[in-house]
Amino acid sequence: MTVSEPRTPHAVSAVTDAGEGTDEERALFESVIADDKRIEPRDWMPSAYRRTLVRQMSQHAHSEIIGMQPEANWITRAPSLKRKAILMAKVQDEAGHGLYLYSATETLGTGRDVLNDQLIQGKARYSSIFNYPAPTWADMGAIGWLVDGAAIVNQVPLCRASFGPYARAMVRICKEESFHQRQGFEILLELMQGTLAQQEMAQDAVNRWFAPSLMMFGPPDAESTNSAQSMAWNIKRFSNDELRQRFVDMLVPQAEVLGITFPDPELAWNEERGHYDFGELDWDEFAEVLAGRGPCNAQRLQRRRDAHNDGAWVREAAAAYARKTAARAVEGAAA
Ligand code: 3HC
Repeated sequence: MTVSEPRTPHAVSAVTDAGEGTDEERALFESVIADDKRIEPRDWMPSAYRRTLVRQMSQHAHSEIIGMQPEANWITRAPSLKRKAILMAKVQDEAGHGLYLYSATETLGTGRDVLNDQLIQGKARYSSIFNYPAPTWADMGAIGWLVDGAAIVNQVPLCRASFGPYARAMVRICKEESFHQRQGFEILLELMQGTLAQQEMAQDAVNRWFAPSLMMFGPPDAESTNSAQSMAWNIKRFSNDELRQRFVDMLVPQAEVLGITFPDPELAWNEERGHYDFGELDWDEFAEVLAGRGPCNAQRLQRRRDAHNDGAWVREAAAAYARKTAARAVEGAAA
């Protein structure tokens, strides 16, 4: 464990499976969680905690990797060299986020190859949001503002997740997401200050991405099967609905600056609650997307499979180079 001060076992806990680990190991794990400290890869942890982390972190990594596709598609069509350079940097950042997260997941004993196989075989989840099309340049603005905006609201609390490598990866990811959100906002701001056609294009993109971005936070709390346990383990810090509300409250004033509206007639300030009310989301659509029947699920997975197959020669060349370098090192040591 990373913490040096003595820890008192916490009296109330539902965080370990019965029959796992020694009493001492279980007590230590529970006290780290109770004291809101970090679990590190070599520490003892219940297998359910490990499984939960591998599930969430790998889903997150897959989301970053699949999430490159809607935007990468616009790199060659960006309206200026400056926009092209910014978009390229952003897409590269997403690749980096995927790599940090796969690396962090590997510290739990699950290799990247295994996770990648799960993804390309269609056995793994990735965020629903990346199964929607991005038909116009304004979609780059809406994705940056809404999708990366939702990602920040969801991910900043993960910087305090109880598993050290995950929390540390999230710190850097969140810094980069913050740049991504601003670039999206700035694209929309420029379009909203442009011609009527540009304003309409921006509004249309926001109309299409608004509800899907709210669904990124996951199902309503009553249907969130993992939240209670993940919160007991200090992996998640807030519920899906709490974060969704926080996101809506953050967006409305920003939309006013942009001069953009949201396609929700029920969106209104509720004085009593001190929050914005908003309409029910289409959870049937969410279920369809999760079941693999969203507008772009098949296309996104096929693209990932193709990229993996196209990259086979790079993996083979890298492995051959590594073998050669290792053999030379042995020869050098023997000489
Ligand atoms: N898309 C796809 N699946 C989703 C989902 C979504 N938006 N929201 C929930 N689900 C799935 C869960 O994975 C879970 O499935 P499983 O049990 O088969 O694994 C099921 O629906 C029930 O949902 P829960 O609320 O019980 O699940 P969680 O407690 O894991 O909460 C989460 C879901 C809030 C997404 C949480 O996993 C989380 O915070 N993950 C880390 C952040 C993340 O993965 N973000 C994805 C977007 S990445 C991104 O945006 C990249 C950026 O560059 C824009």
